Amino acid sequence: MKALILVGGFGTRLRPLTFSIPKPLVDFVNKPMILHQIEALKAAGVTEVVLAINHQQPEVMLNFVKEYEKKLGMKITFSQETEPLGTAGPLALARDMLIDESGNPFFMLNSDVICEYPLLEMIEFHKNHGAEASIMVTKVNDPSKYGVVVTNEATEARVESFVEKPKHFVGDKINAGIYLLNPSVLDRIELRRTSIEKEIFPKIASEKKLYAMVLPGFWMDIGQPKDYLTGQRMYLHYLRTNAPEELLVSGDHIIGNVMADETAVIGERCLIGPDVVIGPGCVIESGVRLFGCTVMRGSRIKEHACVSDSIVGWDSTVGSWARVANVTVLGKDVHVADAEVYSSGAPIKELTI
Ligand code: GDD
Ligand code: MG
Repeated sequence: MKALILVGGFGTRLRPLTFSIPKPLVDFVNKPMILHQIEALKAAGVTEVVLAINHQQPEVMLNFVKEYEKKLGMKITFSQETEPLGTAGPLALARDMLIDESGNPFFMLNSDVICEYPLLEMIEFHKNHGAEASIMVTKVNDPSKYGVVVTNEATEARVESFVEKPKHFVGDKINAGIYLLNPSVLDRIELRRTSIEKEIFPKIASEKKLYAMVLPGFWMDIGQPKDYLTGQRMYLHYLRTNAPEELLVSGDHIIGNVMADETAVIGERCLIGPDVVIGPGCVIESGVRLFGCTVMRGSRIKEHACVSDSIVGWDSTVGSWARVANVTVLGKDVHVADAEVYSSGAPIKELTI
């Protein structure tokens, strides 16, 4: 089976992290976002993944692919746009890479969604309804920033209509960004900038050929800092209840769900958690307080600093006694000075404060 992952967005809502690295490669619980998806696709029997990138993607993406093609034993190829083609145009561009001789359906994923990826169940669901397209849906409190999928009791899983980012309430079941599509969907898409949510899904729904599977378990679009941190909390909770215990750390200085890479060093008298991820090579000096945050690879949190509800990007430093709070996002190589600095809710790109 084949799959296409849309990785060509600009990731503006995750700046300044995305100034240094494309959004799909930003770490989420110590692993590039996109790797969570590629591994799930492999587990569901996918052997070929096409990454739909646009012209802005730097070389770093190529290095990632080379590394993981080998590690995972999958074929990972690029389909590169010369100008952004939106969320449907990339399918037209990659058409020949997605069709196989047996006419199998293929997966399509947004690169910034995180969940348990029940992809084998989705294949079953798709076979059972036998129509053209399946879409995973989930319930959220604020549907207005997503694509809303309307079904009703009479039609059950069949989608009545699809409305992208509705201005008025039409329902609370939203598009989770995971699709299984028959190759015939490709015949509906022209090679131009076009939106699968605004142009293709509404049309397939109106022909009664679009079906929605309700996603079991947690789900989050982690493309914005606040949602990223919520997604991290959900993911750690999922690990606590489903994965082997050694994935999370424990001890007197730990509260709730905390993941720390084995190469991270944690000093004396720290209080860490709940909902913290500490990356490889990080140094957490003594007396530090961390909660609801992520500290990415190679960063140092100096004595008595406090980081809460925030993201510390790669190779950064938070100075001693500094406080970083309220969805502050430090980019790569940002250094917060040793002092009683208080940073609240700022995206910080490059400076020493
Ligand atoms: N190749 C390519 N080219 N990819 C693109 C382009 C493009 O021009 N534009 C966006 N993408 C990719 C992004 O990288 C992302 O993986 C995906 O398309 C969706 O774009 P987002 O910018 O993240 O969209 P969204 O979060 O506002 O909304 C989408 O996701 C929601 C679920 O998270 C929609 O699909 C909604 O319907 C959905 O509910
Ligand atoms: Mg998104």
